[in-house]
Amino acid sequence: MIDFLGDWKRTGYCGLLTGADIGKEVVLMGWVLRRRDHGGLIFIDLRDREGIGQVVFDPEKNAEAHKKAEAIRNEYVVAVRGTVSPRPEGTVNPNLKTGEVEVVVTECKLLNRSKALPFTLDEYVEVAENLRLKHRYLDLRRPVLQNNLILRSKVAQVTRQYLCANGFLELETPFLTKSTPEGARDFLVPSRIHQGNFYALPQSPQLFKQILMISGFDRYFQIVRCFRDEDLRADRQPEFTQIDCEMSFIDREDIITVMEGLIARIFEEAKGVTVQLPISRMTYAEAIRRFGVDNPDIRFGLELVELSDIVKTAGFKVFADVVAGGGIVKGLNAKGCATFSRKEIDDLAEFAKIYGAKGLAYVKMTAEGWQSPIAKFFTPDEIAAMNQAFDAAEGDLLLFVADKPKIVNDSLGKLRNHLANILGLVDKETFCFVWITDFPLLEWDEEDKRWAAVHHPFTAPMDEDLKYVESDPGRCRAKAYDLVLNGNEIGGGSIRIHQEKIQSLMFKMLGLSEEDARTKFGFLLDALEYGTPPHGGIAFGMDRLVMLLTGSESIRDVIAFPKTQKGTCLMSEAPSMVDAKQMRELGLKLAVK
Ligand code: AMO
Ligand code: AMP
Repeated sequence: MIDFLGDWKRTGYCGLLTGADIGKEVVLMGWVLRRRDHGGLIFIDLRDREGIGQVVFDPEKNAEAHKKAEAIRNEYVVAVRGTVSPRPEGTVNPNLKTGEVEVVVTECKLLNRSKALPFTLDEYVEVAENLRLKHRYLDLRRPVLQNNLILRSKVAQVTRQYLCANGFLELETPFLTKSTPEGARDFLVPSRIHQGNFYALPQSPQLFKQILMISGFDRYFQIVRCFRDEDLRADRQPEFTQIDCEMSFIDREDIITVMEGLIARIFEEAKGVTVQLPISRMTYAEAIRRFGVDNPDIRFGLELVELSDIVKTAGFKVFADVVAGGGIVKGLNAKGCATFSRKEIDDLAEFAKIYGAKGLAYVKMTAEGWQSPIAKFFTPDEIAAMNQAFDAAEGDLLLFVADKPKIVNDSLGKLRNHLANILGLVDKETFCFVWITDFPLLEWDEEDKRWAAVHHPFTAPMDEDLKYVESDPGRCRAKAYDLVLNGNEIGGGSIRIHQEKIQSLMFKMLGLSEEDARTKFGFLLDALEYGTPPHGGIAFGMDRLVMLLTGSESIRDVIAFPKTQKGTCLMSEAPSMVDAKQMRELGLKLAVK
């Protein structure tokens, strides 16, 4: 029989009982993690969001409650009344917050039963992720996920407190917006009233927050869902949350200062970690040169080495030809890895190939010097120059990629992270932040044969580069900045274009005709002509931030109801077909059945 709650009031959390509560009468309510029968005595580990508390049923003290306890199974919902008592000598559990005490039960209510679970909630047992996602309500009961979401809530709370204290207003922007695809693909929502027309879910509140600046709100923030229909990876979701900010009458330094304060506060309050301010900075050019990527993990060295000048006249045609054709040659010194087997080196080459490398030349540093299939192509002087560039010593493994700059940097940059993992160079306990600044404004899109914005089309060029926007677009730098933490881009922003003429020029550079620009962004171009203040902002990826704060492997572990890599929700089974009637109302017909 299921008991009613009646007039019982919970007095606190099972997971928060301590020695200080000894002697108190308490009422606890929670889920049964496990039940143990010990010749007469029954012990139950009762769980709530704060942790686990032990409750004891003694047939001598209360036969009726004990009888109930006999029928209790895992995940039953139970309320107990009893007295907090010290655990008998020898039974104290130092691994548990509540390990000094137990509650000796005087009364018990069975509030609900549970079916046998499809998987155990024991945190040390690995369960297939798809099964966990299908029964997300159970998965979320596990302490790891409970703690992740509690910390996530804390981050949101600290963010609000800090930004409000700094004069930011929390304002909302619409979810049903106009489709203006720039970066990713939009999710579309068909309109019933305006058949044939579609809203788009926002990829970010970018244009609305800029318009709020034009309207005079001056400092805005929002913890906001964003939607992007892109291919998913471990650190990406189709809907994700940004801490989105915008400020007027400021320059880059003002934004960086305020946001460093926010990050430091979040780490202090949510994690007890002190972030050393100011956070270090690196230009985009330096990041690419030294690390190959614009989100460098600077917890370890293993920097890339530039070799083009040394090899351009060498006898190894693969390298010389690449340099002659405008490419570059760079390398990595895997210290102490000369012992790698052929297979291990082949695996590294296969890894580099994922990022477009055509090969991965290698040299083993032995007592006799270079041992390598390519050694014979180089003069002793060239070898000496490379050894110096690599700072090579006996026992090292030198790795080389020759190709277009993008492929060389990408493949070696990713290989660098991969090697650091293999070699255990990554200190998982440290948080290494770096601002990446001075991004290029535009990059040439080979596929579409046009210039594309590196950040987004509303980012301002650097004042001194404005004159090259048309004549030499590739050389223009942007007033853009990213915050990188342990190799993850956790935020990005920029100073915006606040003059209509420059914004129109930017659209032109992106290959938009004047007419296209008006159709897509007419409202912004209009608004810009009515007294737009200089402004700029940033957005942090809150999911990524919490993923790193909690040391989670995947962004899915810090989102209550995430999507799979294929964009589905296994619990609710979204996306799904809809009724013919719904389709008719929307004036829609499927092209493929
Ligand atoms: P951006 O596109 O760089 O900038 O996004 C800002 C931050 O959001 C996070 N992020 C994601 N997190 C999870 N899943 C995704 N699919 C995903 N995409 C992005 C990243 C990223 O740094 N409007 C601009 C910001 C601005 O200029 O103010 C913007 O959206 O951590
Ligand atoms: P090959 O002359 O093609 O037999 O290549 C000799 C070595 O150079 C092999 O180890 C290849 O993996 C490597 N190699 C070939 N092309 C490249 C490249 N573009 N960059 C780096 N190494 C390469």
